[in-house]
Formats: sequence, C-alpha cells, structure tokens
Amino acid sequence: MGAGMRRKLAAGNWKMNGLLADLAQLDQLAKAPLPPHIDTLICPPATLIHPAIAQTRASALAIGAQDCHAQSAGAFTGDISALQLRDLGASAVILGHSERREGHGESDQLVAAKAHAAQAAGLCAIICLGETLAQRQAGDTLQVIGAQCAGSVPATLDPALLVLAYEPVWAIGSGLIPTLPQIAEVHSALRAALAARFGAEAAHTVRLLYGGSVKPDNAAEVFGVADVDGALVGGASLNAQDFSAIVQALAAA
Ligand code: PGA
Repeated sequence: MGAGMRRKLAAGNWKMNGLLADLAQLDQLAKAPLPPHIDTLICPPATLIHPAIAQTRASALAIGAQDCHAQSAGAFTGDISALQLRDLGASAVILGHSERREGHGESDQLVAAKAHAAQAAGLCAIICLGETLAQRQAGDTLQVIGAQCAGSVPATLDPALLVLAYEPVWAIGSGLIPTLPQIAEVHSALRAALAARFGAEAAHTVRLLYGGSVKPDNAAEVFGVADVDGALVGGASLNAQDFSAIVQALAAA
C-alpha cells in the first residue's frame, strides 16, 4: 500500500470555545466547496456536537469530539462515551491532547484505553503526542515521542481508524512552530515506530498530522514536509476564513 492511499486530513479543534451562535462558522465552511479529495473535520465542544452534525449533514464536513471515556456506559458523572458520540453521528475523537494530559493527568495507558473504546465504537481516534520545550532542549524529543506512541496506541490497533497528531507542547497556541526538518524527523520516527510494531502496511495507512500554531501563512510549507498528512488546527480553526485557507493549502499540497 503506497503513501498515495492516505487521504489528507484538515482537522480543527475548537477546544472550550464556541456558543450556539458560532455554528455560523460551520455554515460558512460547509458552503465554500470543500475539496473532495481530502477530509475536513471540525471538533467543536461537546455542547455543539449535535447541532453541528445536524447543520452540516448535507456537506462533506465531518464533526468530531475532543475526548471520550474508556467505558461505553456507566456511573461516570460528567463523562461522555465513544458510543454516545458515535450515536450522535460523530466520526472522530481527539485523544490525549496535551491540555488533557497536563490539565487532567491523563496517562498514556488511559489514552490507549480511550483509543480502543473509540475504535470499537467506529470512531477515528486522533491521538496527540508531543514534547515539552524542556524535553526538546534536553535532546529527548524522539525518546519522549517514541514512549508516548508506544504507550498511547492500543495493541488492538485498527490502522484505518487511527490518526497520530504530532503537537509539540511549546508550539500550541504560541505562534512558534518547529523547523521543517524537526517536523520531518518526528514524523519519520513515528512512521518507523508504527511499522516496527504493526507492520509496514498498517504504518502506511495511519495518517500523521502536525499540530501547533498552524496558520494560513505557514500551512503550505508544513504540508510540503514528507510524512505530513495534514494538520490539527486550534486557534485558526475558530475562524472559517482562516481554516478554509488551511484546507485549501492542504488540498493543493
Ligand atoms: P493551535 O492549537 O493551532 O492554537 O496552536 C493546536 C492544538 O492544540 O491542537
């Protein structure tokens, strides 16, 4: 299976932003013709998933979530299961974002359990990995990423329902991005780690996104990097015009 088999993916992460009135951004996004040869996904806050799906049903824009629980149902106050997300019509879920690893103490093991639950429910698991600035400065980036990948990707992998997002913690929301060779180095290491563990064909199927301060003005160069299959976009996904520009850059890459 060649690299050409992978569909590129532009994914937006709204984080804890967005009220009902902000769904108008989705109308704008969905109205501009979305390039048919790539996938476009928005992950709004949980409160907006249902209306977002209802609103974009006729378009190619997919809607996903930002987290799920590892169990499919039960006494877990405040949590949402992968099965419940799938029931709404969500197609993907972001897991192990650094804001959850840091703010909610999520471990690799928990992220793997959530990813297993997501895939079992038919959701694409978008697992985030990334080093802190201190780890990069200490020269530990590949080791940190390798350990996160080994611990966060479940052994029960369905490669067609896995996306890995390389998101350096220091690049998120900072306006800083790694150099293009630094992005290439991590993506190539991730592909190699997946191949060693799951075989070359599975590793070729998994899409690798770069995330962290992707903007309309740097998207094209990031998308030119080998083994970058798209982006996970935070801040710039809140504005339909900015996100559209990133989608178009990916479609042209
Ligand atoms: P950013 O966020 O694009 O605002 O840096 C990326 C992310 O956290 O996924």
